[in-house]
Amino acid sequence: MGAPSLPTAPSGVPAHIAIVMDGNGRWATRRFLPRLAGHRQGVESLRRCARACADRGVSVLTVFAFSSENWNRPADEVSGLLDLVARALSREVPHLLKDGVRLHFVGDKESLSEKVRLGLCEAERATAHNQRLVLNVCFNYGGRWDIAQAAATLAARGEPITEASLHTTMGLAHVPDPDLVIRTGGEMRISNFLLWQAAYSELFFSDRLWPDFDETALDEAIASFARRERRFGRTSAQVLNAAVPRTDPLHA
Ligand code: FPP
Repeated sequence: MGAPSLPTAPSGVPAHIAIVMDGNGRWATRRFLPRLAGHRQGVESLRRCARACADRGVSVLTVFAFSSENWNRPADEVSGLLDLVARALSREVPHLLKDGVRLHFVGDKESLSEKVRLGLCEAERATAHNQRLVLNVCFNYGGRWDIAQAAATLAARGEPITEASLHTTMGLAHVPDPDLVIRTGGEMRISNFLLWQAAYSELFFSDRLWPDFDETALDEAIASFARRERRFGRTSAQVLNAAVPRTDPLHA
């Protein structure tokens, strides 16, 4: 995928938001529904959140849809989730086209079935020209996997392994690092999500279960972000001096 040209986010709005969409299972269980009903509702919540992000000027949204560790869930939930994503893709592409969303999948595609892999590639191809919002879906993804695959790729090419070369060989090389990482569902963990790219992200934990994460909840997270002072290792006094750039040292 070529690097998309991204619109600049308005002041106080994170250009890139990443989300651990946690709480689908509990949302369903509380309603005496099968866990899969919670994941289905999670897809609705994702559609709403992607639209709301684009409306607020966010240019990249990255979500954790299926982790390398999710294979350890009961077999019916795993197959149900894979099926849900495959179906959601074919159903959602027309909406994504209308909303100007460019899809990109990040994760280990090699170990997916050919049917799922082709579905992901087709959805990426169909939306490749969109420019309003990049939606990265981390699927069969783990932060440790991403670092290891980048190192292995560089080693196989005989290239030096440096912070910069690793960064450009990882799954999110086509977008800037996330400014804000949100986790819903009341847990306060990173759970192997964007271990490298979240080095300087602001973190926001919401007690809402993912299916209940609406525009108001998103605005709370953005408002919290707008109040943070991002120092990237510098002092507060340096940051207040406009001559010092407020950027990640890796990209300075
Ligand atoms: C975590 O909730 C959620 C997941 C493991 C799956 C998230 C996936 C989606 C919302 C579908 C995405 C679809 C597309 C097309 C990208 P949990 O099951 O761990 O909830 P719990 O903590 O309440 O048990």
